[in-house]
Amino acid sequence: DGDCPAVCCADFSAAHLYLAKQPSLRGTLRDSSACEGLKGLAEEQVRICQRQVEAMDSVKHGAELAIEECQHQFHNRRWNCSTLQGLQVFAPNETLPRTRESAFIHAISSAGVAFAVTRACSRGELEKCGCDPASLPHGLSLSSPGFQWSGCSDNLSYGIAFSQAFVDNPERSRGVSSSRALMNLHNNEAGRKVRLVPRCKCHGVSGSCEVRTCWKVMPPFHKVGNVLKEKFEGATEVHPKRVGSRKLLVPKSSRFKPYTAHDLVYLVASPDFCDRDPHSGVFGTSGRQCNRTSHGMDGCELLCCGRGFHTAQAEVVERCSCKFHWCCSVKCKQCRHLVEVHTCR
Ligand SMILES: *[C@@H]1O[C@H](CO)[C@@H](O)[C@H](O)[C@H]1NC(C)=O
Ligand SMILES: *[C@@H]1O[C@H](CO)[C@@H](O)[C@H](O)[C@H]1NC(C)=O
Ligand SMILES: *[C@@H]1O[C@H](CO)[C@@H](O)[C@H](O)[C@H]1NC(C)=O
Repeated sequence: DGDCPAVCCADFSAAHLYLAKQPSLRGTLRDSSACEGLKGLAEEQVRICQRQVEAMDSVKHGAELAIEECQHQFHNRRWNCSTLQGLQVFAPNETLPRTRESAFIHAISSAGVAFAVTRACSRGELEKCGCDPASLPHGLSLSSPGFQWSGCSDNLSYGIAFSQAFVDNPERSRGVSSSRALMNLHNNEAGRKVRLVPRCKCHGVSGSCEVRTCWKVMPPFHKVGNVLKEKFEGATEVHPKRVGSRKLLVPKSSRFKPYTAHDLVYLVASPDFCDRDPHSGVFGTSGRQCNRTSHGMDGCELLCCGRGFHTAQAEVVERCSCKFHWCCSVKCKQCRHLVEVHTCR
Protein backbone atom coordinates (compact mmCIF):
# COMPACT_ATOMS: atom_id res chain seq x y z
CA ASP A 1 0.00 0.00 0.00
CA GLY A 2 1.56 3.30 -1.07
CA ASP A 3 0.44 5.03 2.10
CA CYS A 4 2.58 2.89 4.32
CA PRO A 5 5.87 4.03 5.75
CA ALA A 6 9.00 2.67 4.08
CA VAL A 7 8.31 -0.74 5.46
CA CYS A 8 4.80 -1.97 5.19
CA CYS A 9 2.68 -1.37 8.22
CA ALA A 10 0.25 -4.20 7.62
CA ASP A 11 1.85 -6.15 10.41
CA PHE A 12 2.73 -3.23 12.55
CA SER A 13 0.53 -3.27 15.60
CA ALA A 14 1.83 -0.24 17.47
CA ALA A 15 1.11 1.78 14.34
CA HIS A 16 -0.15 4.81 16.21
CA LEU A 17 3.52 5.50 17.02
CA TYR A 18 3.69 6.70 13.45
CA LEU A 19 1.70 9.75 14.55
CA ALA A 20 4.79 10.93 16.41
CA LYS A 21 6.47 11.49 13.06
CA GLN A 22 3.73 13.61 11.64
CA PRO A 23 3.56 17.37 11.87
CA SER A 24 1.43 18.84 14.65
CA LEU A 25 -2.14 17.69 14.39
CA ARG A 26 -3.53 20.74 16.11
CA GLY A 27 -3.97 22.85 13.03
CA THR A 28 -4.55 20.14 10.47
CA LEU A 29 -7.00 17.99 12.36
CA ARG A 30 -9.72 20.55 12.66
CA ASP A 31 -12.41 18.29 11.33
CA SER A 32 -12.98 14.60 11.38
CA SER A 33 -12.48 14.10 7.65
CA ALA A 34 -8.74 14.57 8.19
CA CYS A 35 -8.64 11.36 10.22
CA GLU A 36 -8.73 9.28 7.08
CA GLY A 37 -5.55 10.93 5.91
CA LEU A 38 -3.59 9.80 8.95
CA LYS A 39 -1.12 7.11 8.06
CA GLY A 40 -0.77 3.89 9.94
CA LEU A 41 -4.15 3.81 11.67
CA ALA A 42 -6.50 0.83 11.60
CA GLU A 43 -10.09 1.31 10.46
CA GLU A 44 -11.60 1.48 13.94
CA GLN A 45 -8.86 3.84 15.06
CA VAL A 46 -9.88 6.18 12.27
CA ARG A 47 -13.43 6.06 13.62
CA ILE A 48 -12.25 6.84 17.16
CA CYS A 49 -10.29 9.74 15.68
CA GLN A 50 -13.44 10.99 13.95
CA ARG A 51 -15.43 10.84 17.15
CA GLN A 52 -12.70 12.48 19.22
CA VAL A 53 -10.53 14.58 16.98
CA GLU A 54 -9.50 16.70 19.94
CA ALA A 55 -7.84 13.72 21.62
CA MET A 56 -5.54 12.96 18.70
CA ASP A 57 -2.92 15.49 19.67
CA SER A 58 -2.62 13.63 22.96
CA VAL A 59 -2.20 10.35 21.10
CA LYS A 60 0.57 11.95 19.10
CA HIS A 61 2.13 13.37 22.24
CA GLY A 62 1.87 9.96 23.94
CA ALA A 63 3.68 8.38 21.00
CA GLU A 64 6.44 10.98 21.25
CA LEU A 65 6.82 10.36 24.98
CA ALA A 66 7.04 6.62 24.36
CA ILE A 67 9.71 6.87 21.67
CA GLU A 68 11.78 9.34 23.64
CA GLU A 69 11.59 7.22 26.79
CA CYS A 70 12.40 4.02 24.92
CA GLN A 71 15.50 5.61 23.40
CA HIS A 72 16.49 7.00 26.79
CA GLN A 73 16.12 3.63 28.53
CA PHE A 74 18.04 1.75 25.84
CA HIS A 75 20.62 4.30 24.74
CA ASN A 76 23.58 2.23 25.87
CA ARG A 77 22.39 -1.18 24.79
CA ARG A 78 22.91 -3.04 21.56
CA TRP A 79 19.27 -2.57 20.65
CA ASN A 80 18.92 1.16 21.26
CA CYS A 81 15.31 1.56 20.19
CA SER A 82 16.43 3.24 17.00
CA THR A 83 14.02 0.90 15.27
CA LEU A 84 11.54 3.59 16.12
CA GLN A 85 13.65 6.26 14.47
CA GLY A 86 12.32 6.18 10.94
CA LEU A 87 9.46 4.08 12.13
CA GLN A 88 10.57 1.21 10.07
CA VAL A 89 9.49 -0.58 13.14
CA PHE A 90 8.46 -4.01 12.13
CA ALA A 91 9.78 -5.07 8.77
CA PRO A 92 7.90 -7.88 7.02
CA ASN A 93 10.01 -10.77 8.18
CA GLU A 94 11.13 -9.04 11.25
CA THR A 95 12.85 -10.65 14.15
CA LEU A 96 11.45 -8.14 16.58
CA PRO A 97 7.68 -8.63 16.84
CA ARG A 98 7.71 -11.58 19.22
CA THR A 99 10.65 -10.57 21.37
CA ARG A 100 10.93 -8.78 24.69
CA GLU A 101 11.95 -5.62 22.82
CA SER A 102 8.55 -5.63 21.18
CA ALA A 103 6.95 -6.28 24.57
CA PHE A 104 8.62 -3.11 25.84
CA ILE A 105 7.52 -1.08 22.80
CA HIS A 106 3.92 -2.11 23.31
CA ALA A 107 3.92 -1.46 27.03
CA ILE A 108 5.57 1.95 26.80
CA SER A 109 3.43 3.09 23.90
CA SER A 110 0.12 2.14 25.50
CA ALA A 111 1.32 3.80 28.71
CA GLY A 112 2.27 6.89 26.70
CA VAL A 113 -1.23 7.29 25.31
CA ALA A 114 -2.90 6.73 28.71
CA PHE A 115 -0.49 9.24 30.22
CA ALA A 116 -0.89 11.97 27.61
CA VAL A 117 -4.68 11.70 27.44
CA THR A 118 -4.93 11.82 31.24
CA ARG A 119 -2.75 14.89 31.34
CA ALA A 120 -4.84 16.60 28.69
CA CYS A 121 -7.96 15.81 30.76
CA SER A 122 -6.49 17.46 33.85
CA ARG A 123 -5.51 20.52 31.85
CA GLY A 124 -9.04 20.87 30.58
CA GLU A 125 -8.01 20.34 26.98
CA LEU A 126 -10.53 17.64 26.26
CA GLU A 127 -14.26 18.10 26.24
CA LYS A 128 -15.13 14.61 27.38
CA CYS A 129 -13.13 14.45 30.58
CA GLY A 130 -11.79 16.56 33.36
CA CYS A 131 -9.92 15.94 36.54
CA ASP A 132 -11.21 13.48 39.03
CA PRO A 133 -12.78 14.96 42.15
CA ALA A 134 -13.73 11.74 43.80
CA SER A 135 -10.80 9.48 44.41
CA LEU A 136 -9.46 9.61 47.91
CA PRO A 137 -6.31 7.65 48.52
CA HIS A 138 -6.69 4.47 50.46
CA GLY A 139 -6.90 4.92 54.21
CA LEU A 140 -7.58 8.62 54.15
CA SER A 141 -10.87 10.28 54.80
CA LEU A 142 -12.01 13.80 54.28
CA SER A 143 -12.42 14.19 58.02
CA SER A 144 -8.76 13.67 58.89
CA PRO A 145 -7.76 16.77 60.87
CA GLY A 146 -5.61 19.30 59.09
CA PHE A 147 -6.12 17.58 55.83
CA GLN A 148 -7.95 18.60 52.70
CA TRP A 149 -8.49 16.64 49.59
CA SER A 150 -8.32 19.08 46.75
CA GLY A 151 -10.58 18.98 43.79
CA CYS A 152 -8.30 18.03 40.96
CA SER A 153 -6.66 14.64 40.70
CA ASP A 154 -5.56 13.12 37.42
CA ASN A 155 -8.36 11.03 35.98
CA LEU A 156 -6.26 8.07 35.01
CA SER A 157 -9.23 5.81 34.44
CA TYR A 158 -10.30 7.93 31.48
CA GLY A 159 -6.81 7.87 29.96
CA ILE A 160 -6.55 4.13 30.49
CA ALA A 161 -9.96 3.49 28.95
CA PHE A 162 -8.99 5.63 25.96
CA SER A 163 -5.71 3.80 25.55
CA GLN A 164 -7.49 0.46 25.75
CA ALA A 165 -9.97 1.44 23.08
CA PHE A 166 -7.44 3.06 20.79
CA VAL A 167 -4.16 1.19 21.18
CA ASP A 168 -5.59 -2.31 21.61
CA ASN A 169 -7.92 -2.03 18.70
CA PRO A 170 -5.75 -3.49 15.91
CA GLU A 171 -5.06 -6.55 18.08
CA ARG A 172 -8.68 -7.06 19.00
CA SER A 173 -9.79 -6.86 15.41
CA ARG A 174 -7.13 -9.37 14.45
CA GLY A 175 -8.77 -11.74 16.90
CA VAL A 176 -7.28 -13.03 20.07
CA SER A 177 -6.62 -16.39 18.55
CA SER A 178 -3.23 -15.25 17.37
CA SER A 179 -0.46 -15.75 19.90
CA ARG A 180 1.07 -12.49 18.87
CA ALA A 181 -2.16 -10.57 19.48
CA LEU A 182 -2.39 -12.18 22.92
CA MET A 183 1.17 -11.18 23.66
CA ASN A 184 0.64 -7.59 22.51
CA LEU A 185 -2.61 -7.20 24.44
CA HIS A 186 -1.03 -8.50 27.60
CA ASN A 187 1.92 -6.13 27.29
CA ASN A 188 -0.29 -3.16 26.40
CA GLU A 189 -2.22 -3.83 29.59
CA ALA A 190 0.95 -4.23 31.67
CA GLY A 191 2.09 -0.83 30.42
CA ARG A 192 -1.11 0.74 31.68
CA LYS A 193 -0.55 -0.37 35.28
CA VAL A 194 0.64 3.13 36.06
CA ARG A 195 -0.33 4.11 39.59
CA LEU A 196 -1.23 7.52 40.82
CA VAL A 197 0.80 8.98 43.62
CA PRO A 198 -0.44 11.43 46.23
CA ARG A 199 1.03 14.90 46.16
CA CYS A 200 0.48 17.31 49.02
CA LYS A 201 1.08 20.96 49.67
CA CYS A 202 1.51 22.40 53.15
CA HIS A 203 -0.26 25.48 54.38
CA GLY A 204 0.26 27.35 57.60
CA VAL A 205 2.62 29.87 59.13
CA SER A 206 6.10 29.48 57.65
CA GLY A 207 5.51 26.00 56.36
CA SER A 208 4.19 24.63 59.64
CA CYS A 209 1.87 22.37 57.72
CA GLU A 210 -1.22 22.93 59.85
CA VAL A 211 -3.29 22.12 56.84
CA ARG A 212 -2.32 19.92 53.97
CA THR A 213 -3.99 19.89 50.59
CA CYS A 214 -3.53 16.69 48.65
CA TRP A 215 -4.38 15.38 45.25
CA LYS A 216 -3.25 12.46 43.14
CA VAL A 217 -1.07 12.74 40.09
CA MET A 218 0.68 10.44 37.70
CA PRO A 219 4.37 9.87 38.39
CA PRO A 220 6.75 11.49 35.87
CA PHE A 221 6.88 9.45 32.68
CA HIS A 222 10.55 8.61 33.35
CA LYS A 223 9.38 6.66 36.41
CA VAL A 224 7.00 4.68 34.23
CA GLY A 225 9.92 4.04 31.88
CA ASN A 226 12.13 2.84 34.74
CA VAL A 227 9.48 0.43 35.98
CA LEU A 228 8.88 -0.96 32.49
CA LYS A 229 12.63 -1.31 31.91
CA GLU A 230 12.78 -3.50 35.01
CA LYS A 231 9.85 -5.49 33.66
CA PHE A 232 11.78 -5.84 30.43
CA GLU A 233 14.74 -7.35 32.26
CA GLY A 234 12.51 -9.78 34.09
CA ALA A 235 10.15 -10.58 31.20
CA THR A 236 8.77 -14.12 30.97
CA GLU A 237 9.14 -16.29 27.88
CA VAL A 238 5.77 -17.86 27.11
CA HIS A 239 4.18 -20.17 24.60
CA PRO A 240 0.55 -20.68 23.58
CA LYS A 241 -1.47 -23.43 25.19
CA ARG A 242 -5.06 -24.53 24.67
CA VAL A 243 -7.03 -24.58 27.87
CA GLY A 244 -10.56 -25.72 27.09
CA SER A 245 -11.76 -23.55 24.24
CA ARG A 246 -9.32 -20.77 25.09
CA LYS A 247 -5.82 -20.12 24.05
CA LEU A 248 -3.55 -18.87 26.80
CA LEU A 249 0.07 -17.89 27.05
CA VAL A 250 1.84 -19.93 29.68
CA PRO A 251 5.48 -19.79 30.83
CA LYS A 252 7.63 -21.82 28.50
CA SER A 253 9.38 -23.58 31.30
CA SER A 254 7.69 -24.91 34.40
CA ARG A 255 10.72 -23.64 36.30
CA PHE A 256 9.62 -20.07 35.58
CA LYS A 257 7.33 -18.47 38.06
CA PRO A 258 3.86 -17.61 36.79
CA TYR A 259 3.69 -14.09 35.44
CA THR A 260 1.26 -11.45 36.65
CA ALA A 261 -0.72 -8.73 34.90
CA HIS A 262 2.16 -6.38 35.69
CA ASP A 263 4.83 -8.43 33.94
CA LEU A 264 5.94 -8.39 30.32
CA VAL A 265 5.80 -11.57 28.24
CA TYR A 266 7.42 -12.56 24.94
CA LEU A 267 7.26 -15.47 22.54
CA VAL A 268 10.76 -15.77 21.10
CA ALA A 269 14.23 -15.07 22.40
CA SER A 270 15.89 -11.96 21.00
CA PRO A 271 18.73 -12.07 18.50
CA ASP A 272 22.05 -10.72 19.78
CA PHE A 273 21.60 -7.49 17.75
CA CYS A 274 25.32 -7.53 16.90
CA ASP A 275 25.30 -7.51 13.12
CA ARG A 276 23.48 -5.28 10.74
CA ASP A 277 20.56 -6.98 9.07
CA PRO A 278 18.28 -4.41 7.47
CA HIS A 279 15.98 -7.15 6.32
CA SER A 280 14.95 -7.87 9.87
CA GLY A 281 15.24 -4.32 11.14
CA VAL A 282 18.48 -4.81 13.08
CA PHE A 283 21.00 -1.97 12.84
CA GLY A 284 23.96 -3.76 14.38
CA THR A 285 26.44 -2.08 16.72
CA SER A 286 29.19 -1.16 14.28
CA GLY A 287 29.94 2.54 14.67
CA ARG A 288 28.33 2.81 18.10
CA GLN A 289 30.21 4.70 20.76
CA CYS A 290 31.29 2.51 23.67
CA ASN A 291 32.84 2.95 27.10
CA ARG A 292 36.24 1.30 27.45
CA THR A 293 36.19 1.07 31.22
CA SER A 294 32.65 -0.12 31.72
CA HIS A 295 31.85 -3.77 32.28
CA GLY A 296 28.19 -3.16 31.58
CA MET A 297 26.23 -3.34 28.34
CA ASP A 298 27.74 0.00 27.25
CA GLY A 299 31.29 -1.33 27.65
CA CYS A 300 33.27 -1.87 24.46
CA GLU A 301 33.54 -5.59 25.08
CA LEU A 302 29.81 -6.29 25.22
CA LEU A 303 28.53 -3.51 22.98
CA CYS A 304 30.96 -4.33 20.17
CA CYS A 305 30.26 -8.06 20.49
CA GLY A 306 33.98 -8.83 20.79
CA ARG A 307 34.79 -7.30 17.38
CA GLY A 308 36.98 -4.65 18.99
CA PHE A 309 36.82 -0.91 18.62
CA HIS A 310 38.49 2.15 17.09
CA THR A 311 39.85 4.93 19.24
CA ALA A 312 39.98 8.51 18.06
CA GLN A 313 40.78 11.82 19.68
CA ALA A 314 38.01 14.33 19.80
CA GLU A 315 38.20 17.90 20.92
CA VAL A 316 35.70 19.07 23.48
CA VAL A 317 35.06 22.75 24.01
CA GLU A 318 33.85 23.76 27.47
CA ARG A 319 33.25 26.93 29.38
CA CYS A 320 35.85 27.29 32.08
CA SER A 321 37.50 29.75 34.50
CA CYS A 322 34.23 31.59 34.86
CA LYS A 323 34.39 34.91 36.68
CA PHE A 324 31.64 36.99 38.10
CA HIS A 325 31.83 40.64 37.09
CA TRP A 326 30.18 43.36 39.16
CA CYS A 327 27.42 43.77 38.20
CA CYS A 328 25.97 41.45 36.77
CA SER A 329 27.58 39.17 34.31
CA VAL A 330 29.56 36.00 34.25
CA LYS A 331 32.47 35.77 31.82
CA CYS A 332 34.01 32.47 30.93
CA LYS A 333 36.92 31.31 28.86
CA GLN A 334 36.63 28.56 26.35
CA CYS A 335 38.81 25.61 27.17
CA ARG A 336 39.61 22.94 24.69
CA HIS A 337 40.77 19.54 25.66
CA LEU A 338 41.14 16.21 23.98
CA VAL A 339 39.17 13.13 24.92
CA GLU A 340 39.33 9.61 23.58
CA VAL A 341 36.27 8.36 21.78
CA HIS A 342 35.82 4.66 21.22
CA THR A 343 33.58 3.27 18.54
CA CYS A 344 32.75 -0.32 17.72
CA ARG A 345 34.32 -1.95 14.68
C1 LIG B 1 -13.03 9.99 35.07
O1 LIG B 1 -13.02 8.87 34.22
C2 LIG B 1 -14.06 7.95 34.46
C3 LIG B 1 -13.82 6.78 33.55
O2 LIG B 1 -13.79 7.14 32.23
C4 LIG B 1 -15.40 8.60 34.21
O3 LIG B 1 -16.43 7.70 34.50
C5 LIG B 1 -15.51 9.82 35.10
O4 LIG B 1 -16.70 10.51 34.81
C6 LIG B 1 -14.32 10.74 34.89
N1 LIG B 1 -14.41 11.84 35.77
C7 LIG B 1 -14.37 13.08 35.32
C8 LIG B 1 -14.53 14.13 36.35
O5 LIG B 1 -14.21 13.37 34.14
C1 LIG C 1 21.24 3.69 17.70
O1 LIG C 1 22.25 2.98 17.03
C2 LIG C 1 22.33 3.22 15.63
C3 LIG C 1 23.44 2.36 15.06
O2 LIG C 1 23.34 1.05 15.49
C4 LIG C 1 22.60 4.69 15.37
O3 LIG C 1 22.62 4.93 13.98
C5 LIG C 1 21.52 5.53 16.04
O4 LIG C 1 21.82 6.89 15.91
C6 LIG C 1 21.36 5.19 17.51
N1 LIG C 1 20.17 5.85 17.99
C7 LIG C 1 20.11 6.48 19.15
C8 LIG C 1 18.83 7.12 19.50
O5 LIG C 1 21.07 6.53 19.91
C1 LIG D 1 32.36 4.72 31.56
O1 LIG D 1 32.12 3.73 32.53
C2 LIG D 1 32.66 4.05 33.81
C3 LIG D 1 32.46 2.80 34.68
O2 LIG D 1 31.16 2.31 34.60
C4 LIG D 1 31.96 5.29 34.34
O3 LIG D 1 32.48 5.62 35.60
C5 LIG D 1 32.19 6.44 33.37
O4 LIG D 1 31.46 7.58 33.79
C6 LIG D 1 31.74 6.05 31.98
N1 LIG D 1 32.12 7.09 31.04
C7 LIG D 1 31.25 7.66 30.21
C8 LIG D 1 31.84 8.70 29.27
O5 LIG D 1 30.07 7.36 30.18
